[in-house]
Amino acid sequence: MSNVIDWSARFAEMFNFVGMTEEDRQLIKTSAPLVLARLGAFNDQIYDRLLEYPQARQFFVTADDRPDGPRIEANKQTMISWMRATMAAPLNDGFIRYLAAISQMHHNTPLHRPGLPSVPPRFIMGVLSFYQTGLAELFEEKMSDMALAWRTSKAWNKWLMLQVEPLLASYMRDEKDE
Ligand code: HEM
Repeated sequence: MSNVIDWSARFAEMFNFVGMTEEDRQLIKTSAPLVLARLGAFNDQIYDRLLEYPQARQFFVTADDRPDGPRIEANKQTMISWMRATMAAPLNDGFIRYLAAISQMHHNTPLHRPGLPSVPPRFIMGVLSFYQTGLAELFEEKMSDMALAWRTSKAWNKWLMLQVEPLLASYMRDEKDE
């Protein structure tokens, strides 16, 4: 029997479990212009925050422990790419594989950056939490229709939580549970 995880099937199962709907996907896509306009500010806040915590900071500093501007900028761009893909709310295999590939990149960091550990998963969760809060505040601030703001926040909450497992796939040991 194959021990390979069928990420698409898992994702589809959890999509149903959290009660995500086509309307939720539409709300996410419709909110994209608002989110895009705030992405730069979100990124600046996230990386400033990461630099305050030594276990996160170590990935973004030079040998003499100063913020590594070019590296931080490069990572901000990868975060923007991920967010652009996320706000399109795709359900195809490619997106789920993309998330799992990100987890591999984070987990394998010592191979690319000798001397550094894997990216601690708690900070990946922390970034997702940051986005949940930031987006809820953004919609409250910018949408005149509060009911719409609330529905959009709920849709994003589900969508970001669904990404937790694939984004941490490489950290998991119970490879297959079905
Ligand atoms: C939701 C949260 C996150 C997302 C979506 C994300 C996304 C990504 C992506 C797409 C890449 C691959 C870049 C490439 O293809 O070259 C990457 C690489 C990387 N990320 Fe993240 N990231 C997240 C959180 C973090 C956090 C919290 C840290 C550190 C505390 C971090 C550190 C890194 C590092 C060091 C690499 C490069 C790994 C290497 O050199 O091989 N990321 N990230």
